[in-house]
Amino acid sequence: MKIKSTQQLKLPIGVGDFRFGTLEKKFIRKVIVSNRLSYGPMTQEFERKFSAEHDCRFGIFCNSGTSALHIAIAALKEVYKWNNGDEIIVPAITFIATSNVVLHNNLKPVFVDVDRFTYNINPSLIEEKITERTRGIIPVHLFGLPADMEYIVEIARGNKLRIIEDSCETMFATYKGKKVGSFGDIGCFSTYIAHFLVTGIGGICTTNSSRLAVIIKSLMNHGRDAIYISIDDDNKKGKELFRIVERRFKFIRLGHSFRATELEAAIGLAQLMKKGDIITKRRENAAYLTAGLRDLEEFLQLPYTPKDREHNFMMYPIVLKKGNKKKLVRFLEENMIETRDMMPLLNQPLYIKLFGNIQNEYPVAKWIQNNGFYIGCHQYLMKKELDYVIDKFHQFYKKYG
Ligand SMILES: Cc1ncc(COP(=O)(O)O)c(C=O)c1O
Repeated sequence: MKIKSTQQLKLPIGVGDFRFGTLEKKFIRKVIVSNRLSYGPMTQEFERKFSAEHDCRFGIFCNSGTSALHIAIAALKEVYKWNNGDEIIVPAITFIATSNVVLHNNLKPVFVDVDRFTYNINPSLIEEKITERTRGIIPVHLFGLPADMEYIVEIARGNKLRIIEDSCETMFATYKGKKVGSFGDIGCFSTYIAHFLVTGIGGICTTNSSRLAVIIKSLMNHGRDAIYISIDDDNKKGKELFRIVERRFKFIRLGHSFRATELEAAIGLAQLMKKGDIITKRRENAAYLTAGLRDLEEFLQLPYTPKDREHNFMMYPIVLKKGNKKKLVRFLEENMIETRDMMPLLNQPLYIKLFGNIQNEYPVAKWIQNNGFYIGCHQYLMKKELDYVIDKFHQFYKKYG
C-alpha cells in the first residue's frame, strides 16, 4: 500500500466528524415548521427511543454528558441521603468530567487503577478502596468498550453501593448480552461532537427508576416541582390544571438549567435511526486499522475486545509498548492525523493541587497517561484515509523504529 499524494484524501484526519444528512435536515425542518423549541415531541421521542435502545424505561435528555452525570449523582445523593464528603469510586483514567461532577456535588472521588488492556476500571482493585463512607461507583465505559460490569455489580451489591455508569463514550454496546446504561441505577451518555451519536451539545440519563427519573427531570429544570416540566402541562383540564397552576412555579430542590432544545433532539433522532450503519462502519474501520498495524505490535498495544462484550469504537486507542510517544504523536500531527492524549487525569494541574502527587499509586494509569493516545476510526473515514494512517505509522517506524 503506497500513497503518493495526499490530494485525494480528506485531511486532516480527525478523531470525530459530523455531517448533516438528509434525515437530520428533515427533522430540523420539522422543528422549524412546528415553531416549538422547548421540551416537546422531538425530545420525548428521542428520550423514548434512546432509552428503549438501552433497555431502560426512562430517558432524560439534557444539555451535556457532564450535566447528565451531575444530576445523576445529585439525584442519588438526595434519595440515599448521602452526606457531603462521602466517597465515590472513580477510575484513574477517564475524562475529567467524571470526577469533576463528584466534586461539584461535594463528594470525594476515590480513584481506582484501570486494566492495562481494556483501560477500564480494574474491578479487582475496587474493594480495597471501599470505606464506611463509600456510597457509589462510577464505572466508565471508555472508547466504546463496556467495563467489567458483572464484577462491579457484584461488589456494589455486596457493599450497598449505587452505580452510575459513565457511558458518555459508549452507546448500544453489550456486556454479556446486556446493554450499557442498564446495569446501574443511572446511565449517562453524551452526544457532544465526536461522540457516537452527535447532537452538538447533549446528554442523556437512562434509568429504570421512576423516582429517580422524576428527580433528574426536576434537577435539570431549576429544581422545579416535577408536576410541571413542559408547556404542554398547561393544556391539562379541570382539577388537574388547577393543581398544576398552583404548583408550577414551585421549586423544591436546588436545581440547574441543564435543558436542551428540540433542535438537538431532532438531530439525535435522525442519528439514532442510522445507529446500525454507524456501529458497523466504526467496527470495520477499527478492524482495518488493527489489521494494518498488526505488524507493529512490537511497539504498539492495539485495542483489545474481551469475548464477553462488544466494542463500538468511539475512538481507536493505542498505547506505546516502547519508544517515544511525543515523537510519534508529533510525526502523526505533522502529517495531519489528529491525536489526543489518553485521558490524563491525576496529572492534571487542578488534580495535583487538590489531591497531591498521587500518580505513582496508579501505575497502570500512569503508564497509559505517559504512553497512550487515540486516533479516530469514525464512520466518515474511508479506506484511503485509513490506508494513509497505516502508512504513516509504518513510515515512522521505518525512520525511527
Ligand atoms: C468519559 C466521559 N465522561 C463525560 C464526558 C462529558 O460529556 P460532555 O462533553 O457531553 O459534557 C465525556 C466527554 O467527552 C467523556 O468522555
